[in-house]
Amino acid sequence: MARINENFLKLKAGYLFPEIARRVNAFTEGNPEAAKRLIRCGIGDVTEPLPEACRQAMHEAIDELGNAATFKGYGPEQGYAFLREAIVENQFAGLGIAADEVFISDGSKCDTGNILDIFGKGNVIAITDPVYPVYVDTNVMIGNTGDADETGAYAGLVYLPCTPENGFVPAIPDRKVDLVYLCYPNNPTGATATRAQLEAWVAYARANQAIILYDAAYEAFIQDPELPRSIFEIEGARDCAMEFRSFSKNGGFTGVRCAYIVIPKTLKGYTADGQEQAIHPLWSRRHSTKFNGASYPVQKGAAAVFSEAGKAQVAALIEGYMGNAKLLREACAAAGLPVFGGVNAPYVWVGCPAGLTSWDMFDKMLNEANVVITPGSGFGAAGEGYFRISAFNTRANVEEVCRRIGATFG
Ligand code: MLT
Repeated sequence: MARINENFLKLKAGYLFPEIARRVNAFTEGNPEAAKRLIRCGIGDVTEPLPEACRQAMHEAIDELGNAATFKGYGPEQGYAFLREAIVENQFAGLGIAADEVFISDGSKCDTGNILDIFGKGNVIAITDPVYPVYVDTNVMIGNTGDADETGAYAGLVYLPCTPENGFVPAIPDRKVDLVYLCYPNNPTGATATRAQLEAWVAYARANQAIILYDAAYEAFIQDPELPRSIFEIEGARDCAMEFRSFSKNGGFTGVRCAYIVIPKTLKGYTADGQEQAIHPLWSRRHSTKFNGASYPVQKGAAAVFSEAGKAQVAALIEGYMGNAKLLREACAAAGLPVFGGVNAPYVWVGCPAGLTSWDMFDKMLNEANVVITPGSGFGAAGEGYFRISAFNTRANVEEVCRRIGATFG
């Protein structure tokens, strides 16, 4: 008798984005005419072509693979040194991060889920609410939670509410937790954390021998020079945090796939009997056992993000998406809806009109405006009453979405 992992049976419905896709497909099948007008601002998937510098680097890499003298088979599991060094030089200069503390992968979604392999049972895990659903679902799958209640909250997780009152940055917990997921700029609220707020989290983690899993996938969208871009800008973070970064949203690699985790060698966890254990060798062992490295052309393409041409092309992409975010913010505000985020992040977080739940709003936008948004409650109970609009789209589509928001709610 083949036994299954029954934790999977605790998961609520589908993962959020496949569930949205299912509803959208049902709509398009039932409304072929309206389907032609559909504009998707749900999942945060990039729409603009890959930067020319990345494409060129990938073409060259493919040609190298086509030549016996430069052919490459398996690469280093941790990633090629040329990419790890470029990352450190361009993203972590002066922050005390070494190239061998960077692990290249094929995506932050996988990284944030896979990292749980190296942590033991019995950790108290804190997540923000609302939250990127992958953090929750992967903890459910691995058995770190009990069942969900009627609001979708899982027993055993510590939920840290993020509200307009706290600027969507949670208060430090009044109890001890062992692992805490923080994501800034935040998905889904588009909020950012200040240096003082991250300092408080680092102080808490150090005092409690906790580890911060810091997801900085949207770092490139920060416009305000005062905001920290990395947890490692905070003194002491090397001893209590790891950071997840991605090429998906800056370089437009959502389909190409490339990301990385920074794990300082000074980061420690503990055995059940309280012995210190460095995290880096555990992840190195896990990564090299279950992963054979991102492909060479992809890593070459990723490194080209840091070339002079690549930097300029990425900056243009970010500027375009942030221009979209501004238009979306203005349109929602003009329609009288409460608007958050979208200033240092590509997500605009919007309060639903009075009397509408998040899924009501999803249906209204789909049926009346023919626009796909993401219902806030899909990100957690505290997301109820909100919806998220992704600024990843063409300018023409965003302008049209703004017109439709005006027509539907103005
Ligand atoms: C989102 O829409 O929240 C993101 O695109 C999901 C992801 O990056 O996996």
